[in-house]
Amino acid sequence: MTTIRPAKVTDVKEIHKLIEYYANKKEMLHRSLNAIYENIQEFVVLENKNRIIGCGALHVSWKNLAEVKSLAIAEQYKKQGLGRRIVEKLQENARKLDIQKIFALTFKPEFFKKLGYTVILKEILPHKIWNECINCYLFPDCGEIALLIYLK
Ligand SMILES: CC(C)(COP(=O)(O)OP(=O)(O)OC[C@H]1O[C@@H](n2cnc3c(N)ncnc32)[C@H](O)[C@@H]1OP(=O)(O)O)[C@@H](O)C(=O)NCCC(=O)NCCS
Repeated sequence: MTTIRPAKVTDVKEIHKLIEYYANKKEMLHRSLNAIYENIQEFVVLENKNRIIGCGALHVSWKNLAEVKSLAIAEQYKKQGLGRRIVEKLQENARKLDIQKIFALTFKPEFFKKLGYTVILKEILPHKIWNECINCYLFPDCGEIALLIYLK
């Protein structure tokens, strides 16, 4: 059975391994072990038979705005609705924080479009752009697409 739950520090190495797998294939951005430990309270994980098979994080950017980050589903578990399940859990967590807008920066816009997100110009995300993107080794030509959803 696959369960979804808040991440614990003991999950960090497996989360890191999952993200590294896709980051090495240039499908998502790297996260250091340190960055995952420091932000562990933002993460949820999918657990199956005591293994972490998926992860995702909700990072609050500003008043009424948060970002879905570090979303990954292990290769053999893809296309079973688990990515959607993680994003919906993160959206539920956002609602509890009274956040109504969530964005994602991704190389997989079609997945987010299926979940109701629409493509936006990155320029309307000033805090994200100026705080994090400019320090990224891929700035300014990372090729990530920005998408946004208004939660109901
Ligand atoms: C992107 C990712 C999280 C999707 O997870 P998943 O569990 O396979 O997705 P789901 O099964 O929940 O798919 C939900 C819907 O999106 C669609 N979808 C999933 N991946 C897609 C893709 N790459 N392109 C187009 N549509 C996609 C599914 O067909 C499904 O559509 P449906 O509701 O009409 O059936 C997963 O492929 C992954 O981990 N990729 C590598 C890391 C990555 O790219 N992360 C993205 C954020 S940086």
